[in-house]
Amino acid sequence: MTDTSLAPLVPLHNGAAIPQIGFGTWPLNDQEAADAVAAALSIGYRLIDTAENYRNERGVGEGIRRSGIDRSEVFITTKFNKEWHSRQGAVEAWRNSADKLGVDYIDLLLVHWPNPSQGTFGDAFQGLAELLADGRVRAIGASNFKIHHLQPLLDAGVHPDVNQIQLDPRHTREAVRDFHRTHNIVTESWSPLGNASELLRDPLITTLAGQYERTPAQIVLRWHVQQGLVAIPKSIAPERMAENFAVFDFALTEDEVQQVSALNIGEHDIADSDEFGH
Ligand SMILES: NC(=O)c1ccc[n+]([C@@H]2O[C@H](COP(=O)([O-])OP(=O)(O)OC[C@H]3O[C@@H](n4cnc5c(N)ncnc54)[C@H](OP(=O)(O)O)[C@@H]3O)[C@@H](O)[C@H]2O)c1
Repeated sequence: MTDTSLAPLVPLHNGAAIPQIGFGTWPLNDQEAADAVAAALSIGYRLIDTAENYRNERGVGEGIRRSGIDRSEVFITTKFNKEWHSRQGAVEAWRNSADKLGVDYIDLLLVHWPNPSQGTFGDAFQGLAELLADGRVRAIGASNFKIHHLQPLLDAGVHPDVNQIQLDPRHTREAVRDFHRTHNIVTESWSPLGNASELLRDPLITTLAGQYERTPAQIVLRWHVQQGLVAIPKSIAPERMAENFAVFDFALTEDEVQQVSALNIGEHDIADSDEFGH
């Protein structure tokens, strides 16, 4: 039976399913993450996003245990850095993260950045495929990958479930999303609120918020949801966590979704993953 107090699930290529709204944990430290994750789970979040690089996996694990919600009900995503970009390295990265989180499987493990100059993300994906085959992860994925990073993976017969990328109404990322659609890769939006920048003060967003008696953040997250995107907003404040989760009981019109998408300014001000990464 579907629990309507939870976020809808999006099916993934390799058989798992991911909640459509999750909770981001950067840049929380262990203690903040433990408190925030426990609060988010009590609100209804079941997807928690962390990374080796955030140095808060212990806190995330602690928050999950403290929530009293069974581990099997929670979808945990983590990511590893470039030093683990080898077949064996991915397995070691899995072990390090699983130990810190205090779990015996990870739902979704991501290569955090492609680091193409190092040239070994394909090897890392071979390790991910191994972890997937023996159940140590339920899904595998990329983060910050461009089309020309994803294509060689597919050519090698490895299918990422997800590509987690910077995406908000000012950065709509159409080209890579088209590629994802064609290849059944789910698009997950990081900084879905534009990191609370001017996006939330944009006149179109604030007008729609007034019209629907919602907040600007809810309008933006509804825009993600209606396009089948998975979004992982972060907030330290339980009232904003709750606000960000309450986006499943109203709908923008198709025309309004298009108007919001027209706020796109392109990709000039986002990190170039051919150059940047860790
Ligand atoms: N894969 C990657 O390379 C990558 C990169 C960056 C981030 N991420 C992930 O994506 C998650 C989200 O991205 P993000 O944290 O950069 O940006 P975000 O979720 O778009 O925005 C977070 C900011 O928005 C504020 N905020 C949250 N809810 C709000 C609301 N309802 N109204 C007004 N302001 C609100 C937060 O402040 P308060 O906390 O004070 O509420 C915080 O300053 C991260 O936490 C991380 O898990 C992944």
